[in-house]
Amino acid sequence: MTKKVMLVFGTRPEAIKMCPLVNELKSRPDEFETVVCVTGQHREMLDQVLRVFDVEPDYDLHVMRPGQTLFDITSDVLLKIRAVLEEVRPDAVLVHGDTSTSFAAALAALYLQIPVGHVEAGLRTRDLYSPWPEEFNRQAVDVISQWYFAPTETSRKNLLDEAKPDGRIWVTGNTGIDALRTTVREDYARPELDWAGNSRLILITAHRRENLGEPMHRMFRAIRRVMEGHPDTKAIYPIHMNPQVRRAAHEELDGFDRLRIIDPLEVVDFHNFMARSYLILTDSGGIQEEAPSLGKPVLVMRDTTERPEGVAAGTLRLVGTEEGVIFGEFTRLLDSPSEYAAMSRASNPYGDGHASERIADVLKGMA
Ligand code: UD1
Ligand code: UDP
Repeated sequence: MTKKVMLVFGTRPEAIKMCPLVNELKSRPDEFETVVCVTGQHREMLDQVLRVFDVEPDYDLHVMRPGQTLFDITSDVLLKIRAVLEEVRPDAVLVHGDTSTSFAAALAALYLQIPVGHVEAGLRTRDLYSPWPEEFNRQAVDVISQWYFAPTETSRKNLLDEAKPDGRIWVTGNTGIDALRTTVREDYARPELDWAGNSRLILITAHRRENLGEPMHRMFRAIRRVMEGHPDTKAIYPIHMNPQVRRAAHEELDGFDRLRIIDPLEVVDFHNFMARSYLILTDSGGIQEEAPSLGKPVLVMRDTTERPEGVAAGTLRLVGTEEGVIFGEFTRLLDSPSEYAAMSRASNPYGDGHASERIADVLKGMA
C-alpha cells in the first residue's frame, strides 16, 4: 500500500535540503503519494530553490510578510496549516531542521495526532539563545517526532543522550550533500567570477537573528578592515533579503569597491562560487556542511556551532562576532599558508550524497 507523506518547508535552506527528498519520493510512486506544502516563510529565496529542483508545491500558505516576527511566523503557520493537514490526512509529516516553519508545522501535526519525521534531527548547541530561536525549534521538533533522520553519528548520540529510542534513529547523512553532488562544474562561468580574476576570492553571507544589529556591524567592519590591508583580495557577498541585514551591510561596506554586494544566488550558482572561493566568512548553518566537502576554509561568525564535525575535520573555525577576534583570525588565515593549507583539506563528515534514498527506504517500512 502506498504511504501518503507530506513534506512541509518554507525557507531557502529547508527547500535546498528537502527538494532532493521530494524528488526521491516522487520517483517511487508505487511506494509513496508525495504531498508538498510550503509555508512561504521565505518568498523569493524559496521560489528560487523550487525552480532549480523543479518542485511544484501542492499547497502554499503564503505566510511571509516584510519584517515578520517570530510571533507572526509561528502563529500564521500553525493556524493556516491546520486545514491542509485535515484535508490531506497524511500518514506522516516530514519537517526539516530548526526553523519556525518546522516547529509550527510539527506542532500542528501533533495537535492532529499525525506522526512526524524529523529530517536533520539531533543537532545541538544546548544554548537556547545560540542560535536563536533555532536551538529551541530543533529540540521541540525532536520532542514531537517519531522518526529521527540524523545526519551524523554525533547527532545520533545527541538524541540518545535525551533518551530518544535507538530503534527510531537512522543515520542517513545530510540531504544537503545530495544536492551538492550534482551542482559543481569545472566549466562554470559568471561575470562576477571574471571580475574577481586572480584575486583571492572571499565569499560572505550573514543573516542570523541573534547577530542583527551591533554584532553584524562589527562583523562587517572587521571584514572591511582586513581586506583594506590585503589588496590581493576581492569579496562577493550574496546578501540575504532581510532589510535589517541589507541596511547594516550597506552602511559598513558601501564605497569599498573590492567587495561586491549582489542579490541571493541560486543554489547551483552559490555552490560554484563556493568551489571557486579562497575562503568563506559566514554565520550560516548549511554552508558549514557544504564547505568541508569542497575543502574550503570557513570562519564561522558565531559563538557556538551545532556542526562540530566540520570543526573536527579542520575546515571550520568559530570566530564569534567580536570585531578584534574576526580581524585577527581572518588576517591570520590570509597571511599564513600553513594555516590555510591545514584548513583546506576536503572531507566528507556530512554524508555521501545518498541521504534521501536512505530516508525513503526507512519510510517505506514505517508502521
Ligand atoms: C530564517 C530562519 C533561520 C534560517 C534562515 C535561512 C526562523 C526563525 N529563522 O531566518 O533559521 O537560518 O531563515 O535563511 O525560522 N525576506 C524576503 N524575501 C525572502 C526571504 C526573506 O523579503 O525570500 C525578508 C523578509 O522581510 C523577512 C525577513 O527577510 O521578514 C526575515 O526572514 P525570516 O524568515 O523571518 O528570518 P531569517 O533570518 O531569514
Ligand atoms: N545559498 C544559496 N544562495 C546564496 C547563499 C546561500 O543558495 O546566495 C545556499 C547555501 O549553499 C546553503 C543554504 O543556502 O545550502 C544556506 O542557507 P542560509 O544560510 O540562508 O540558512 P542556514 O543554513 O543558516 O539555515
